[in-house]
Amino acid sequence: MARKPIIVGNWKMNKTIAETKEFVAAVDPKVTDKADWGIATPYLDLQAAKAAKNLIVAAEDMHFKDSGAYTGAVSAAMLKEINVEWTILGHSERRQYFGETDETVNLKMIQAINNGINPIVCVGESLEQYEANETKDVVKTQVVAAYKDIAKEDVEKTVIAYEPIWAIGTGKTATNEIAQDVCGYIRTVVADLYDQETADKVRIQYGGSVKPAGLAALLEQPDIDGALVGGASLQVESYIAMIEALN
Ligand code: G3P
Repeated sequence: MARKPIIVGNWKMNKTIAETKEFVAAVDPKVTDKADWGIATPYLDLQAAKAAKNLIVAAEDMHFKDSGAYTGAVSAAMLKEINVEWTILGHSERRQYFGETDETVNLKMIQAINNGINPIVCVGESLEQYEANETKDVVKTQVVAAYKDIAKEDVEKTVIAYEPIWAIGTGKTATNEIAQDVCGYIRTVVADLYDQETADKVRIQYGGSVKPAGLAALLEQPDIDGALVGGASLQVESYIAMIEALN
C-alpha cells in the first residue's frame, strides 16, 4: 500500500532561534510534496520554526503529565498553544541520558494521542545487542510497550523510527537490507498487536547516519517510509539535497 514518506530532521541540541529563522526561510520554500518534510527542534526554537508553511514542526520530547512540579519539562498543552502537532518520543539519547523508559515512552504516547499530537516513537538496539543478535527482541519489546493502551484507530497518527544506536552519529549506516529487515519485522509486530490493515498504514522510518545520497535507495525498501535524520538535517544545503534527491 502507498504510504507517503515522512522525513524529519532531528536537530537535537543544535541551533539558536536566529539560526532556526535562517534555516526555515531557506528550506521551507524548497519543500515538495514528494514527502512530508519536517524538523524537530529544541523547545525554544519551535515558535520560530512555526513560521514554516510547508515543514512539519516537531518537539524532541514532551512530558506525560498535564502540568505540575516537573522542573524543566514541557507539556502537550504548551506545544498545542503554539500549534506544534508532532513530537519525537523515546529517542535513544533520551533513554540513555535522561532516564526515559519503555513505561514513560508509553505514557507519553498516550498523552500525545489524547492531545492531538502525533508521536514519532523511536526504537533501536545498542551495538552490544546487535552483536548478540538481539535486535528483533529489543525492538519488539519497545514497540509492544510503546503501544500499550493505544487504540487501533490512533496507530496511523503515529510514526515508528527504527534507529540502531550503533548507527547514530557514527557514520556507520545500517545497510538498506538490515534496515528493511528490521522495519519489516516492526510491521509484523504492529500487525500482531492490531491487524494487517493497521500495520499497513503506519509509517516506519529508519534513522542513523542517513545522508542525502543514500535517501532515495533507502526509501525504495518496501517497509521503509521515511527517515529521521540527525547530522545531515542541520545544514541548509544538505537538507535541500535530501529534498532534491527525491525529485
Ligand atoms: O534521530 C536522528 C538520529 O539519532 C540519527 O542521527 O546524526 O546519525 O543522522 P544521525
